[in-house]
Amino acid sequence: MAKVLVVTSGKGGVGKTTTTAALGAALAQRGDKVVVVDFDVGLRNLDLVMGAERRVVFDLINVVQGVAKLPQALIKDKRLENLWLLPASQTRDKDALTEEGVGKVIDELRARFDWVICDSPAGIERGASMAMRFADEAVIVTNPEVSSVRDSDRIIGMLDSKTVRAEKGERVEKHILITRYDPSRAARGEMLTIEDILEILATPLLGIIPESQDVLRASNVGTPVTLSNADGAPARAYIDAARRLCGETVAMQVPTERKGFMDRLLRRRAA
Ligand SMILES: Nc1ncnc2c1ncn2[C@@H]1O[C@H](COP(=O)(O)OP(=O)(O)OP(=O)(O)O)[C@@H](O)[C@H]1O
Ligand SMILES: [Mg+2]
Repeated sequence: MAKVLVVTSGKGGVGKTTTTAALGAALAQRGDKVVVVDFDVGLRNLDLVMGAERRVVFDLINVVQGVAKLPQALIKDKRLENLWLLPASQTRDKDALTEEGVGKVIDELRARFDWVICDSPAGIERGASMAMRFADEAVIVTNPEVSSVRDSDRIIGMLDSKTVRAEKGERVEKHILITRYDPSRAARGEMLTIEDILEILATPLLGIIPESQDVLRASNVGTPVTLSNADGAPARAYIDAARRLCGETVAMQVPTERKGFMDRLLRRRAA
């Protein structure tokens, strides 16, 4: 049975697109057939993060409007056999995503893939509600700061009321993914703690992704971070999160401060 998963947040710039690409690649590497769908009409970032921007011919809106057939718009990843992208349009009118049209495309994707991962735009407007409308599961991307957690709380409210599942009295399975977690700032008390976040949002934790240069490097070369530096801390955290999505029990790693050589040296001298 295909699963439709929305990656959402409310607040912008928290790591949704990074997460969509990383989870998509990690699930595809496990052998599942995955499509990542860019709902961010107008901004269109997922194709860049996936390194497919030069290969976009048709997009989600073309398919919704019947200008192109789904197979014409799907872009197959060059690295992973099982990974595909359905890009967003950069220019067209956001209202082109009608509920009926999106529903049809999602049904078609369900028939072809194991996972349909929808990268939501920021905000709580139409684009975000379309991205979550047909979801079975949701990953709510949250940074450890008050504004992000407040927006996540709003999004949880929408997932529980505005989705097709909610309207049928069914649950959208929700997971919190804490991203851009900076252990040194956490140690200084400059961020919300993981316990605080989970208490406010009352939703199970899928993983904690550390703040890392790996992510920027990966997006600069157009490769999901799980592929560009698979041994790095963010990649490992995303791979564990993907395993949890598949129902595996994986011990939760809280990122810790990695002391550099100079730090250790200075400490030793000071002692
Ligand atoms: N774990 C991380 N460590 C460091 N930088 C990160 C991390 N996750 C995301 N970023 C950076 O944060 C910025 C925003 O990430 P991304 O585009 O994934 O967020 P988004 O939620 O999709 O944004 P938008 O709301 O605009 O769609 C990017 O520059 C990305 O490289
Ligand atoms: Mg994005």
